[in-house]
Amino acid sequence: MNRPLTILGIETSCDETAAAVVRRPAGGGRGEILSNAVFSQIEAHAPFGGVVPEIAARAHVEHLDGLIARAMKDAGTDWDDLDGIAATAGPGLIGGVIVGLMTAKGIAAARGLPFIAVNHLEGHALTARLTDDLPFPYLLLLVSGGHSQLLVVEGVGRYRRLGTTIDDAVGEAFDKVAKLMGLGYPGGPAVERIAREGNATRFPLPRPMAGRPGCDFSFSGLKTAVRQLAEGRETLSEEDKADIAAAFQCAVGDVLSDRCENAMAAASDLIPPGHRRLVVAGGVAANMVLRERLMVSAHAFGYEFIVPPLKLCTDNGAMIAWAGAERMALGLTDPIDTGPRARWPLDPEAAPARGAGVKA
Ligand code: KG4
Ligand code: ZN
Repeated sequence: MNRPLTILGIETSCDETAAAVVRRPAGGGRGEILSNAVFSQIEAHAPFGGVVPEIAARAHVEHLDGLIARAMKDAGTDWDDLDGIAATAGPGLIGGVIVGLMTAKGIAAARGLPFIAVNHLEGHALTARLTDDLPFPYLLLLVSGGHSQLLVVEGVGRYRRLGTTIDDAVGEAFDKVAKLMGLGYPGGPAVERIAREGNATRFPLPRPMAGRPGCDFSFSGLKTAVRQLAEGRETLSEEDKADIAAAFQCAVGDVLSDRCENAMAAASDLIPPGHRRLVVAGGVAANMVLRERLMVSAHAFGYEFIVPPLKLCTDNGAMIAWAGAERMALGLTDPIDTGPRARWPLDPEAAPARGAGVKA
């Protein structure tokens, strides 16, 4: 489709209610974010130490209309300026997904606009093309509260999974470690903050899967080791907490680098020399220490290292609008009766992950 596309994107799959307007230029290239309105529900979930699905769905209902109005106003767009409406159709907390999906379908039907059902993970996966005009293929480390995966991104809708977690997602591990130490929710930014003052070598922690073949991840053993460490002490001083946070973050960095290094080696047949780029996406990509660590690994393997700006790493509407624009440019729109999906793997061909507490 060789014309510019202006798309409204809606994201409601977890604890961020978000709406954004993004423009994809005619013929492709990097996109333009005309607006990006995000309402974080952190305060509503903080007392529970994690996302409560019913509270999330209710908050999406309360805030979504206002956010869409704000996104349209900030972008200076009228309904007539839009070429399509995109919404996250999964994977995620089903109550929230339904809120965004039904709203998007309602607008699409009322305005006679095409509708695009977006896989939330594809939103994260394609963000680097919105900001950096990246050609396919590239290697992607997707690290969020719900997912830890290594994928070769071969094209829109075309993913080859090299590895995934066999138990917890890395963001989930950050959140649990933070909860153990009473640091509040979400855990990632809190752990990163106190780790700055910490000594990463005082407490030895395991590096699950490191040194093993393959690209799968495991974080539950690391989380358990932190729990035993924390519960084994009568009280935790601020210094203890900082040292534990630093040790945990360092262990995560070692594990992620080890897995990425195996993936870069494995991808050498799949990614031609001029395309060797490691992209990190998802909320955990906001972590500066992990970014630095992964950049060193990428460069050691002759890979360029790319991370989207902070506010595009965590959940947002721009990534959904952009994935919608990429799909629509290929003529991929969806029927209005498309249903929500709690699970929706990017690579349906990938063998199911195996392990102790496997979830996906
Ligand atoms: O991508 P995202 O916003 O939502 C999901 O799709 O899951 O990721 C949220 C996750 C949370 O687990 C949060 O603790 C983690 O990303 N996170 C971080 C940081 N900022 C957010 N983890 C480590 N360091 C950070 N600075
Ligand atoms: Zn996400």
